[in-house]
Amino acid sequence: MDIRLLRASDIPLIQHANIENLPENYFLKYYLYHALSWPQLSFVAVDVSRPPKTPYDYPKIVGYVLAKMEEEPTDGVQHGHITSLSVMRTHRRLGIAEKLMRQSQLAMVETFGGHYVSLHVRVSNKAAIHLYRDTLGFKTEKTEHKYYADGEDAYCMKLDLDFLREQIREEAEEGKEKKAAKGDDAEDAEHADEGEAVGDVGRDPAAAGSKSDQKIKVKVGRALGVGELIEKVENTRRDSALESVTTLMVGPV
Ligand code: ACO
Repeated sequence: MDIRLLRASDIPLIQHANIENLPENYFLKYYLYHALSWPQLSFVAVDVSRPPKTPYDYPKIVGYVLAKMEEEPTDGVQHGHITSLSVMRTHRRLGIAEKLMRQSQLAMVETFGGHYVSLHVRVSNKAAIHLYRDTLGFKTEKTEHKYYADGEDAYCMKLDLDFLREQIREEAEEGKEKKAAKGDDAEDAEHADEGEAVGDVGRDPAAAGSKSDQKIKVKVGRALGVGELIEKVENTRRDSALESVTTLMVGPV
């Protein structure tokens, strides 16, 4: 199972899941509004046991959480809201809803500095109430009478997210301490000798220059050729006539 951020291309699939699982349904543009305004907050659960065979096959989405930040909070406190959550019947009681909710809650704090998350749930929805109240720790704020179109009441529930903020802060502190403890080792490791440099590429031009500026004397050109030629001639044939011809030939040297 893969829990990942909602993509715009997933929207028709989560709209389908919503229609399958809940009586509260929305226009496609409402999903799009969530995905475009708060792309960090909505997640999908994808069954990856049978991956798509071609790029045109749809991913198998088995759950989603559609979430947002409250745009004009009446209490003036920045907070998130769960618009809709559902998991397909075939994949229930596997912990998928809990994971989707926790991912979204974390993003509310990390990305938007949300202080709490709110939601509405039907008073008859035992499974969801168990998840929110007993598993995740939501508290019932109040009951809203006839909240739903069919006249059913809703519990208005709320979860304080300060524990997540604290958790994030503690992890950051721990990370800093570990880094400080490792400090010198890490610095040494960073500057560790990685062996001899190969060639002058990337070297300090001044340093590289000092080596390449060294001049080595090599014999080149006519002087070398002539020297060999004269020696050969002298060693092999001590013929004065030839010697004089040779000397004549190389005269200008
Ligand atoms: N009865 C009692 N408890 C249940 C039930 C159930 N039918 N289903 C799940 N739970 C419990 C689990 O045992 C678990 O408890 P635990 O932490 O004590 O072990 C907890 O709820 C979480 O279980 P998950 O496996 O994470 O939940 P699941 O993936 O099955 O999804 C959900 C739960 C979303 C409520 C699912 O049943 C569903 O899609 N229902 C239809 C749609 C729906 O009601 N959505 C919520 C509407 S409210 C809103 O959208 C804001």
